Amino acid sequence: MTDPQLSERMPDVSGADAYGTLDPAALRHVDSLKWNRYGEGVIPLWIADMDFPVAPPILAALQERLGQGLGYHLQGGATLQSALLEKLAAQGLTDLPEDGLSFLPGVVPGLYTAVAALTEPGEPVLTMTPIYHPFHLSITEQGRRVAAAPLREGAEGDTAHWEIDWDALEAAAQGTRLLMLCHPHNPTGRVWNAEELARLRDFVLAHDLYVVSDELHADLRLTDAPFESFAADPRVRARTLTLTGPCKAYNTAALGIGVLVGHDPALVRRVRAAAGGLMGHPSALSATMWLAALQEGGPWLQGTLDYLRGNRDVMHAFLDARLPWVRATSPEATYLAWLDLRAHPRAGDIQNFLLEEARIAVHDGPLFAPDALKPQYQGFIRLNFATSRGLLLEALERMADALGAEVPA
Ligand SMILES: Cc1ncc(COP(=O)(O)O)c(C=O)c1O
Repeated sequence: MTDPQLSERMPDVSGADAYGTLDPAALRHVDSLKWNRYGEGVIPLWIADMDFPVAPPILAALQERLGQGLGYHLQGGATLQSALLEKLAAQGLTDLPEDGLSFLPGVVPGLYTAVAALTEPGEPVLTMTPIYHPFHLSITEQGRRVAAAPLREGAEGDTAHWEIDWDALEAAAQGTRLLMLCHPHNPTGRVWNAEELARLRDFVLAHDLYVVSDELHADLRLTDAPFESFAADPRVRARTLTLTGPCKAYNTAALGIGVLVGHDPALVRRVRAAAGGLMGHPSALSATMWLAALQEGGPWLQGTLDYLRGNRDVMHAFLDARLPWVRATSPEATYLAWLDLRAHPRAGDIQNFLLEEARIAVHDGPLFAPDALKPQYQGFIRLNFATSRGLLLEALERMADALGAEVPA
């Protein structure tokens, strides 16, 4: 880093760069979707997984499990059930019946089956945009309609901060029976706070809505604020299904597993039944992995969160110094930054521009909106900063060089 002004503004994270030596050649192993989608020389900051190796206790548990044969299995059995019940209770999902948990091969299948079970074809389904794109796909691919309430941008110091637009939510809710909530929210990194959750609960009661709350990113919190599940409040428990899994926090997306959680076992069964025999079951390795994560993964997760906080701070310092016109979120959770580059002359084609000119791959803003709202998010990108600090800085340098050639007015 040669710019003295930039060095001064960078947080000192030099002693903590445990992942500084990540090697792109090794990351581009034959089966890596993230590293092989784009050409050699491109730094991939798109799909949401981390470039970090598997947590050692998880690796050890998987190796041991492989030595035990691979017949039909108990999906983690009572041990995984009770470890999960304990974890869910800590985020407010207390008093769950044991048959209130239903394992899935991933969280996305849970989004799809909830839409199939709780709504009819042609019906509008309520959600907020921008949002993780399978939310929309689970609605439109099953012949329902997206009723989208765009979030609104508030300001928090220098960073962008996305809030619920209550008027937009009220307007979009007309005729809907299901709210699909993302908490923490991908891509804005928001963790809905106590006030917002209370108001949302009042809202779903007033509109008599079912809620599917995707809480997959809950363990990836970058602030000290506690996390409360949407269904922590008994008033909304019977109408809410929570979806979660280990794949974001423990970086295990290759071993699909998730769980559908509900206080009303009949509702869980109803959703489960909508998939019939099509759903399949998670693998023994994924159940082993989740148990190891819950029982022994804590220290690894804490170290990883510290590293991610460092990356977030480095990214902000860099943007402040080199690209001050970029509006960036400071995510409260996730390793995803939602960046507003609309001021740039190439905003209309920003994802391609960055791919071709900076050789970095990011997700394009419009991906996170249904068709009608896509133009509103043109010029935004989602940047995944869960890589080595060295690679992150290289990617940011490339981005600044490419964007800097045409500086916004
Ligand atoms: C909010 C959210 N839900 C679900 C998923 C995917 O979950 P799974 O791989 O378990 O289907 C992601 C992946 O990025 C996500 O961000």
